[in-house]
Amino acid sequence: MMLNNMPVINGDPLWALLGRFRADQRKHKIDLLVGVYRDEHGNTPVMKTVQDAEIHLAHEAHSKAYGMLSGNANFNQQMAKFVLGDRPSLNNQCTIQTVGASGALRLIADLIAILSPDSTVWISDPGYINHRPLMEGAGLTVNTYPWQNKNGQLDIDACFAALEKAKAGDVLLLHACCHNPTGIDPSLEQWQRFSDKCKQKNIVPFIDMAYQGFGDDPDTDAAGLRLIIKDSDFAFIAASCSKNMGLYNERTGIATVMTTNHERHADIQTLLETITRANYSMPPNHGAAVASYLLDKPDAWLVELASYRGRVDTIRQALGKALKDRDAPAEFLDISHQKGMFSLLPLTENQMLILQDEFAIYGMPNGRINIAGLKMTEIPQLTDAIMSIISR
Ligand SMILES: Cc1ncc(COP(=O)(O)O)c(C=O)c1O
Repeated sequence: MMLNNMPVINGDPLWALLGRFRADQRKHKIDLLVGVYRDEHGNTPVMKTVQDAEIHLAHEAHSKAYGMLSGNANFNQQMAKFVLGDRPSLNNQCTIQTVGASGALRLIADLIAILSPDSTVWISDPGYINHRPLMEGAGLTVNTYPWQNKNGQLDIDACFAALEKAKAGDVLLLHACCHNPTGIDPSLEQWQRFSDKCKQKNIVPFIDMAYQGFGDDPDTDAAGLRLIIKDSDFAFIAASCSKNMGLYNERTGIATVMTTNHERHADIQTLLETITRANYSMPPNHGAAVASYLLDKPDAWLVELASYRGRVDTIRQALGKALKDRDAPAEFLDISHQKGMFSLLPLTENQMLILQDEFAIYGMPNGRINIAGLKMTEIPQLTDAIMSIISR
């Protein structure tokens, strides 16, 4: 093995920018980079209901012996119910606990690479920055479909025009809600169109549910996913507890394979377990145990989640209003209608750099800002900076 032969790799720009942010000495700097919820003091707190669950679990703990390859059984069952709803499609799922949604995305990519290595995975452009590496890391081919038009709305015609090139057996990766980075979600009519397209072209839907409960209540956020699943014989789901339970560093999620072919459920389960066994053996239990406790009696947690969602939406509305009051161009005002943590500011890469260098406001080069990272008191600073930059 020769280190001389090591390729030069450009790391994820997000983590490089975070390093720059941390080194920035300006007191008024604002971090709108990484997708975590923050309160008005800029903290990412442990949810109160999560803390209560952890105290309970600490008292109950009796062993840290190895668990099952598929992880925490109650967690898997409860998460499947949370995502799919209490409905007949629950009978069609095979679910395994994963290392966050990232682990689920990669596990399913590995599964696709075994079942159908020639499938192309279609991801949105713009989209979640890690979708391509996760799919390509499993050796899969990736292609893109457009998502947002110049006016900040879903470019549904361009999206379907691109998907015309998809072939039977390809995989369509969709964000279930709170699209990262645009905050633009399909209406239920548009979900129906995706579903029809999948059926017509024999494309397999793959739904990434990273933000259930962050855009609207959890059932509303899952409505598109449930619609497309109801219509499909075969589909994949990756889901996460990182955001809606604040379990980011506990790496807690599920991978679900949906199939109406019940005779193959045991084989699918074994295949999923075989892939993880050859990778990290089994997932860690703590996050899943907490999530499982919350999902068993979800009322208090759902109230806390609603307060997080309410805060993000309040900031969204206040930012949209502040921009409107300053007569910002129309393409900035859609921020108020978008959902979840992220939106794309319609600024160029160079303008995003000016935002950082001159105004100490850090967003991603493509314009992505984490709305949940903004304090109400910082809205005037951001609005002034945007108006100054676009008036040059
Ligand atoms: C769309 C999307 N999918 C997956 C993930 C990864 O989630 P996790 O932290 O659970 O791995 C994220 C995280 O930002 C995301 O935005």
